[in-house]
Amino acid sequence: MPPFDPFLHDADLTLLSTHPNYYAIHPQDIQLPAQPWLDLVTSSELGGRPPLAIDETIIKLPSEQGMSPKKRHEVAVMAAYIVKLVKNLPEIPFIVDVGAGQGYLTRALKHNLPQSNILALDADVAQSEGARKWENRVLRLGESDPQIDHKTILITTDNLLAIIDEWVSEKQPSERASSSPVPVLLIGLHACGSLTPDILRAYLSSSRKQDRHSLWYSSAVVAVGCCYNLMRPGDFPLSKRYSFHPPLPVAAYHLAAQVPSTWLDAAGNALPSVKLSIRKVVWRALLGRLLEQATSNTTENSPTPDNTVNKSATVPARWNRRPEAWESQANTSSTTARNAAEDDSSTGQTNNHTRLGRLSDAVYKSWSSFVDAASKKLGITFPPYVSDLPIGHEPDEPQRISTHFNGTNVDFQSLEKRLEVLHVKRCLLGPKVEETILNDRMEWFKEELNADQDGIDSMVELDRVNLFNQSLGSARNVAIVVAPQGCLPKAQG
Ligand SMILES: C[S@@+](CC[C@H](N)C(=O)[O-])C[C@H]1O[C@@H](n2cnc3c(N)ncnc32)[C@H](O)[C@@H]1O
Repeated sequence: MPPFDPFLHDADLTLLSTHPNYYAIHPQDIQLPAQPWLDLVTSSELGGRPPLAIDETIIKLPSEQGMSPKKRHEVAVMAAYIVKLVKNLPEIPFIVDVGAGQGYLTRALKHNLPQSNILALDADVAQSEGARKWENRVLRLGESDPQIDHKTILITTDNLLAIIDEWVSEKQPSERASSSPVPVLLIGLHACGSLTPDILRAYLSSSRKQDRHSLWYSSAVVAVGCCYNLMRPGDFPLSKRYSFHPPLPVAAYHLAAQVPSTWLDAAGNALPSVKLSIRKVVWRALLGRLLEQATSNTTENSPTPDNTVNKSATVPARWNRRPEAWESQANTSSTTARNAAEDDSSTGQTNNHTRLGRLSDAVYKSWSSFVDAASKKLGITFPPYVSDLPIGHEPDEPQRISTHFNGTNVDFQSLEKRLEVLHVKRCLLGPKVEETILNDRMEWFKEELNADQDGIDSMVELDRVNLFNQSLGSARNVAIVVAPQGCLPKAQG
C-alpha cells in the first residue's frame, strides 16, 4: 500500500482535464500518465471503506412510500445516527435540515423525535410543497407535538444564520427569550454544492463568543455533501493546508460521484449498468466527432427539436469552472450566477446548438439504434455508413475496419476502446477527488477552531464518518460530523 497522499498532483489533474469528447475530436494517441496516478487511486480512503455499523432498527420510518431501496437505506441510517447523537447531547437540540428536498429525513426524525422543533429549508418551492404533502399524508403527530416548519429560501453563506435567528425567535416563548441560548443541530443529507461549507460556517459563527447569537448556538453538525459541481468556486480549496492546490478541472467535480469499487460482480466482471454508463459517454463522444458529417433536417419553418432542459426555478445553476470566469461570477446574486452559467456553452445548449440530452437506455443496445435515436432528437441525418461503423462490438468479434473519414483512415473500433480506457481511468480518480474536497473541508474547520481557541469551545470532536453502504448505490456516503467531545455515536458492538 503506498503511503497516504492527500493531494492531487499535476498528472492526475491532466487526466481529469481530458475528456473523451476532446479525444474523439483530436484522435492523436491518448497520452495517459501511467504513474503515479495508480498509487494515488489505491491510496484513496473513501473507495470501498465499509460503513460505520449503525443499528437502524432503533428508529422507525413513518412510511417507505416513494423511496428507492437506496434512499430508504440512507434515510434510515442517517436518522438512526442523528437520533443516537441527539440522545448523547447534553440538551435536546432544535434541528435544521438544510436542503431538505422532499423531506424524507426530516419526517423520519420527526417520527422518532416527535417533540423536537424542526426547520426544513430548501430553495425549491416544488420540494417544500412536496414535503408538506407527504407530511400531511404520513405523519401522525400528537396534539402537543410541534409541526415541522418549512422555509423556501436560497441559502447563501450570508443568510443561514439570519434564517435560523428568525425561526428560533418565532419558536421561543416570550418568557424564555432572555434565558440561555438553545442548541441547534445542523443537518444536511446530500447537501448540494456549498451547502456543507455553509453549514460549517454557521456552526463556527454561532459558536464564536464575540458574535455568538443570543438566541441559539450550534451544538452539532451531521452533513453529507453532494453535487460538488454546484459548489461556489471559492469553496475549494478552503484550508491553508490545501491553499496551494491548483483549481480542479471542471470534469473532476462531476467525476467525484464515481464509485469504481462497486463496479464489479463477485466474479470480477463489470456489472451491466457500469458497461452501459461507459458506453453512453464513449458513444456520445464518437457521435460528437461524426456530427460534422450530418446534415440538418430543419428548414426555417420546421419546429426546433423539443429537448427543453428542465431546470429548477430557484436552485443555483452550475458555476463556470474556468478560473478566469470566476471573478465576474464572484459576489453576484444567484440570479446573476445563473445567467452567467446559462451563457456558458459548457452546457452545450445555446441559441444555435441543441443538446442531445437524455436518451432511453434501450437505444444503447446497438450503435445503429443509438445513431437513429440521436438523429431524430437532434433533427439531423447522417450518411448511411455512420450507422454501419464497427462500434459496440464485443472484443471477440474482430471487425477492425478502418473507415476513411475526413481524409484519414480511422479505426473506430480501436478509438472506441481507447476512449473507454480513458474514461475509466478518469473515473478511478473520482473517490480521490471527493476525498480531497472532504479533507480540505475538515482541515479548514480545524484551522478555524484552532485560530479561535479562546472563542470556541475547544472540547469539540470532528470526524468523517462513512454512513452509507456504497454497494447499495450510495455514492456520496461520507458525513462530516461535529459534536461536543464524547457525544458522537460509535459503531455498534
Ligand atoms: C440532493 S437534494 C437532497 C434532498 C434531501 N436532503 C434528500 O436527501 O432527499 C439537495 C436539495 O438541496 C436543495 N438546495 C440546493 N442548493 C440549495 C441552496 N443553496 N439553498 C437551499 N436549498 C438548496 C435542492 O433544492 C434540493 O432539494
